[in-house]
Amino acid sequence: MSESTIKHVVVPGTFDPVTYGHLDVIARSRKMFPRVTVAVAASVNKNGNGTQFSLDERVEMVRESLRELNIEDGIDVVPFTGLLMDLCQQLGAGGVVKGLRATTDFEYELQQADLNFHLAPEVESIFVMSSPKFSYISSSVVRELAAMGGDVSFLVPPNVRIRLGRA
Ligand code: PNS
Repeated sequence: MSESTIKHVVVPGTFDPVTYGHLDVIARSRKMFPRVTVAVAASVNKNGNGTQFSLDERVEMVRESLRELNIEDGIDVVPFTGLLMDLCQQLGAGGVVKGLRATTDFEYELQQADLNFHLAPEVESIFVMSSPKFSYISSSVVRELAAMGGDVSFLVPPNVRIRLGRA
């Protein structure tokens, strides 16, 4: 068992697009750990039909959002294509932080955490409860609302709103 405390965590996701809910989890992770890497997954086969935004666009939206909220300090943003645990091992990160909204997130996250434990038992899976302010937000809700002409300004930062064509 490792004696050292965790100094570096990864916050992974597809971020298609990044929302205020994700940014809340990222900011709170940074409050707990001195170094945070936001890992944007290629997720090419997500839901069988790919992502709305390219990997480069999703990375850029996270970077721009961190700048807009002025929370860049100690936070890196990287794209990744392989296994999350391989990335954590490459970076020497001691944990992965994920946000939990409703119980519906729990089953999925438990399955992922179990699998990841088998792949890399030294990497902790750490969960934060989403802030009640953001518990109803998801990227899919944002995409649907934007596609139907709805106001998304309370869900995503300005740069994302522009990319969604809702500025
Ligand atoms: O925002 P999402 O789509 O819920 O994020 C899911 C993500 C990207 C964290 C997850 O799919 C992932 O870890 N993908 C990388 C591939 C991998 O490591 N798979 C094995 C663990 S299930």
